[in-house]
Amino acid sequence: MTMKVINAPSLANCKFLELKDDIEKLVSGGAEWFHIDVMDGHYVPNLCFPARFVGELKAAYPDIMADIHLMVTDPMDYFDILAENSADYVCFHADATPFAIRALNKIRGLGMKAGVAVNPSQRVDIIEPYADLLDYVVLMTVEPGYAGQTFMPQAYARLEELAALRKRYPFLISIDGGVDGENAARCARLGADVFVTGVFAVFNQPEGIERACRRFQDAMDSVQK
Ligand code: DX5
Ligand code: ZN
Repeated sequence: MTMKVINAPSLANCKFLELKDDIEKLVSGGAEWFHIDVMDGHYVPNLCFPARFVGELKAAYPDIMADIHLMVTDPMDYFDILAENSADYVCFHADATPFAIRALNKIRGLGMKAGVAVNPSQRVDIIEPYADLLDYVVLMTVEPGYAGQTFMPQAYARLEELAALRKRYPFLISIDGGVDGENAARCARLGADVFVTGVFAVFNQPEGIERACRRFQDAMDSVQK
């Protein structure tokens, strides 16, 4: 059985003054996951959503998966508060802590799914020592920190390497950065499961968020794997 590709729109791309409207459009467009970027201004030179936002979101949309992407220097400080705010999936950057095993165990112990994000400048096999603890891996296809950057094509070979590693460990592979219909179709064929969609796939599209969201999902559902 092939699993349906998951569209995880990145809420950092919403218009903040129209956040509720944009979220409603994503939900009516069929989105079942939301990707929520948390930035601390240190790991990346930018700021984004606080943990409390996750709690408000889950109270309003309990069935939506809240996928939290921690771009922070001290990920351990965030796990408890994210669990209190009903986060479902939590990933941190592979180089943000020397204690990835402790961090993954902590996330899992709190009842959340655990992942790491790998930057374009890092080796993919950095995850191998703790691959058995991973529910998912976020393959960064841009340098993290900003929305709207261009997908780096070296990601295809890196995804193949990750998909080969995944034969031994059942983690999901998520693609984050510059996703559009074309690169997503190619990544889906190479084994990616989750797509963080931003300005090139779902937001800033002339047809509007809801239709763009549906079109992306339909296109992904028709990809022959
Ligand atoms: C980049 C973020 C992404 C971003 C994706 O650092 O992790 O989640 O919002 O949006 P696009 O694809 O538009 O860059
Ligand atoms: Zn992200």
